[in-house]
Amino acid sequence: MRKVYLDNGSTSFPKAPGVAEAMAHFITEVGCNISRGGYEAAYDLSEVVYETRSMLCRLFGFADEKYVVFTPSVTYGLNFVIKGLLKPGDHVIISAMEHNAVARPCESLKEAGVEVSVVAASREGELDMEAFEAAFARNTRLVVMSHASNVCGTVLDAEAVGKICAEKGVYFALDAAQSAGILEIDFKKFNLSALCLTGHKGLLGPQGIGALLLTPELAAELTPVIDGGTGSASHLLTMPEFMPDKLEAGTLNLPGIIGLNAALKYVEKTGTAAIFAKEKQLAQLFIDEMDKLPDIRVTGVRDWGRRVGTVSLDFAAIDNAEVAYELDAGYGIMTRCGLHCAPLAHQSLGTYPAGTVRFAFGHCNTEEEVLYAARAVREICGR
Ligand SMILES: Cc1ncc(COP(=O)(O)O)c(C=O)c1O
Repeated sequence: MRKVYLDNGSTSFPKAPGVAEAMAHFITEVGCNISRGGYEAAYDLSEVVYETRSMLCRLFGFADEKYVVFTPSVTYGLNFVIKGLLKPGDHVIISAMEHNAVARPCESLKEAGVEVSVVAASREGELDMEAFEAAFARNTRLVVMSHASNVCGTVLDAEAVGKICAEKGVYFALDAAQSAGILEIDFKKFNLSALCLTGHKGLLGPQGIGALLLTPELAAELTPVIDGGTGSASHLLTMPEFMPDKLEAGTLNLPGIIGLNAALKYVEKTGTAAIFAKEKQLAQLFIDEMDKLPDIRVTGVRDWGRRVGTVSLDFAAIDNAEVAYELDAGYGIMTRCGLHCAPLAHQSLGTYPAGTVRFAFGHCNTEEEVLYAARAVREICGR
């Protein structure tokens, strides 16, 4: 049976051209570590790692490579900010569209006396801006918000949120898991304090590598969540105060960084606007086909200025899990059904607890695959 991968919201596949080759070359031909060996191969490798930090700076309008921290994924970057900053008595604001990568670390701090406000979102996933402004309190230290919903694709207005945070003097961390590599993100324009990234989704790199971009002000306030060797200031029994070492304990995922480096070259060459245009064209074609069918709700906003190409469907007449099973078993179409690690978002969208069937189109999908998926849904619905 043919296979059609429509689960790019979970992880992109295939990866950008050159990623696999670069990683294989590193493992078979280079293989050494950085910051820990005094030989040429280690110095050359340090330059590639630095180049990768520079490319992230360029892509996100960020100024200083020293404040680009490599992490295993966005989940780690979010934890580094949330758990590294907040102390008992502090207050954090999140949206009701968050992934558990934001919701769970915040929830876990409640026991330690951190207050958490969850700002409501509409049935289409838009943040209630009035409620957001009203949520600020004297002890608010941090706002954490996802840029694009991993459930329905709705984009939250990061620029407007960043402006309010700047006016109130509150740190703003953006979870760009679903938007990096797809939408334009400008660290300065959005007034960000932290940009949390994962390499394996829209950035088209491998799993296991992400990055955290931080302002010097926020970096100075964070307590490292992980302590260990950095290959620097080894006489100290505490983490170095300088960046990025302060937040990069342990050996870096070098094969991952090499893969991300190749992926970023592809994203830079292709351009996020072209990548987004392709996803938009495919997703709109699918939405148009779904709109012709009865008893299917396409969740999220429709306006392409405020959404990405992730399409989540709620079937009124058939069990959503049954649809996802039939798509896989009968047609080889890979989607993701359920709550997508985002119960808050599903509560906002009115799709909790059953969840939705998510079709996440990627840069390598074709119109023919979209029409094949639409035909499969039509047949499963008995039309
Ligand atoms: C919005 C959002 N945040 C965070 C994550 C967590 O990503 P990772 O597993 O790469 O840490 C995801 C993954 O699906 C996501 O969609």
